[in-house]
Amino acid sequence: MVDRVQETRLRLGVNIDHVATLRNARGGTAPDPVRAALLAEAAGADGITAHLREDRRHIVDDDIARLMEALRLPLNFEMAATAEMQRIALRHRPHAVCLVPERREERTTEGGLNVAGDDRRLADFIAPLAEAGCRVSLFIEADEAQIEAAARVGAPVVELHTGTYCDLHASGRLDARDAELRRLYTGAVLAHQLGIEVHAGHGLDFETVGPIAAMPELREVNIGHFLIGEAVFIGLDAAIAEMRRRMDAARS
Ligand code: PXP
Repeated sequence: MVDRVQETRLRLGVNIDHVATLRNARGGTAPDPVRAALLAEAAGADGITAHLREDRRHIVDDDIARLMEALRLPLNFEMAATAEMQRIALRHRPHAVCLVPERREERTTEGGLNVAGDDRRLADFIAPLAEAGCRVSLFIEADEAQIEAAARVGAPVVELHTGTYCDLHASGRLDARDAELRRLYTGAVLAHQLGIEVHAGHGLDFETVGPIAAMPELREVNIGHFLIGEAVFIGLDAAIAEMRRRMDAARS
């Protein structure tokens, strides 16, 4: 049982998937997500996140190999809990593995992992990754049953899904947004009490990051789509610097 929230700087993980989306739209080699990762590293990111989807629609296998080679920052490797992805993770041994649900027809990761309904299988799935030294996190909704299941399967980290909160903010449904924010806060407290490190991500932007960054239990946020989009207008380094500034302001 952890009884005190550690006063630590919130880490910013930058997700570079959508640089690969742009590259793949033309089928060539540019823009290169590894170059974006190195730029993010230089701009003050604390980690790089990349999702190797089963359909390889953005990041491809060679990107993961090149990221492992080029990065000094820890790589957070997002993947579905499949045998193929487990083999790839065990080959590369990234710093972190974040397990996410994946459906081919979805545009992006919708909803969290159903840990409560799949805990035996997930416990077996996680064990060799943990033995290989990867820090496993589970991408889940801020739901009590899911958080308790994450503790049961022995996950050291959960990433709370902020997508609903961000969608409600964008659509102006502010009462519902605030209720979702309260759910995220309650979830973060519960996970922390259970000894699980708390991360958050999905859909965050300059407007929505503040209330999330202010959660005292939070140790890391992972942000991709907005930062890559904003980079078109102000540059990736400026977008990361502004996100960092807003995170720090929310926590001070
Ligand atoms: N965290 C997880 C687990 C994700 O699946 C994603 C999307 O790939 C993100 C964070 C980043 O979300 P976004 O690109 O909307 O910032």
